Amino acid sequence: MKKAVNIGLVGCGNVGRGVINVLERNRRIIEQKIGAEIKIGGVCDVKNLSLKGYSYTRNYKELINNPGIDIIIELIGGYEPARTIILESLKAGKNVVTANKAVLAKYWDEIFSAARKYKKLVYFEASVAGAIPVIQALNEGLAANRIEKISGILNGTTNYVLSEMTRSGVSFNVALNLAKSAGFAEANPTYDIEGLDTAHKLAILSSLAWATCIRLKDISIAGIKGVSEEDVFFTKHEFGYVIKLIGSAQMIDNSLDLRVEPCLVRKDHTFASVEREYNAVLMRGDSSGDVILYGKGAGQFPAASAVVSDIIFLGMQVVNGTAGKDPFVVYDPDKKIKLLPKGKREASYYLRFTAADRPGVLSKVSGVLAKNKISIASVYQKEPLIGMRKGVPILMLIHRVQEGNLLKALKEIDRLGIIKEKSVKYRIED
Ligand code: HSE
Repeated sequence: MKKAVNIGLVGCGNVGRGVINVLERNRRIIEQKIGAEIKIGGVCDVKNLSLKGYSYTRNYKELINNPGIDIIIELIGGYEPARTIILESLKAGKNVVTANKAVLAKYWDEIFSAARKYKKLVYFEASVAGAIPVIQALNEGLAANRIEKISGILNGTTNYVLSEMTRSGVSFNVALNLAKSAGFAEANPTYDIEGLDTAHKLAILSSLAWATCIRLKDISIAGIKGVSEEDVFFTKHEFGYVIKLIGSAQMIDNSLDLRVEPCLVRKDHTFASVEREYNAVLMRGDSSGDVILYGKGAGQFPAASAVVSDIIFLGMQVVNGTAGKDPFVVYDPDKKIKLLPKGKREASYYLRFTAADRPGVLSKVSGVLAKNKISIASVYQKEPLIGMRKGVPILMLIHRVQEGNLLKALKEIDRLGIIKEKSVKYRIED
């Protein structure tokens, strides 16, 4: 039995400092769980750090080539050099803990093939939904199940923005600035806003749940830039819904439908009360039914909590000499999963048309919908909220329809002379 577990920390920004803090603060209970002492054998960062009491380097190779280090903690984020650091660490016989969703989503196959080849482990609880133990839940707690669906609010930045828009009726740009000044959005939040960050996390959860390798190109991705304050207002006040950015993976007729898009959730849906930087994930197993986890999806200490849990569970195996004997991620690289063809998913929708205010408009719009077998559940005509609109808003909820049929109908409707702006649609998440 080893007497100490030695870690090398690559990347010592906000999360890295959080990890050091948690390790020091909770040292006694952490060491009790691991059954050995925990040591920080070295810290690597490109900035000049002044962490007292730690051996410091700018060159990650010094940590990887240090025979005394058991686990490399990769906390630099992004694709490169993170990918190289993880692969070189495995090759050098180190186990790895990473919080990096981007590198895992893009290089899943390469990273876990290397882990298998070198018989080492890669743990990544912090890569999805911060403090929420969703990786363990999916990989271990729900291992007995055939997973039918995973959906969730997986991005704190966009959830903060949409929460502000819903709460105070402000525009997207105003809400984004509020999120930035509250410290909940990066200086450059492009990946968050465009849905890519959620897609990274959805790819990880789906690869794990269906023991395969989901690529970003398998996911249809839409961000929240186009969400207008009038749709937030109308969906909330006229229909009782909240707009949320949802990442969703659902098995439908043995084919997987993967999407990231702003959706409507009913006011009484669990996701509706997930506000600001919080995340929530629903996992539906064939035996378990729905399991929903909720908590802080981002931030220094929520992320550090997940990283340190990984260190503990990996550390236990290092102490026992069992780390890497069994893989953490089990999947078949040759298993091809069928993807649901685009347009085949059925859902109910909210629609908003901007139309001329004259007799016969509604019948023309509903005529095209009827021709495409689309059934209206409710309809309103409203005064425009935004003065410069060229027409009046017609709002509708429609019953379940195949997305392809709806897109065809909307194309036809948008060509009508009475329609003044591109029509808007939001799927209703059930
Ligand atoms: N940018 C991410 C978010 C951080 O806003 O959720 C956590 O992955």
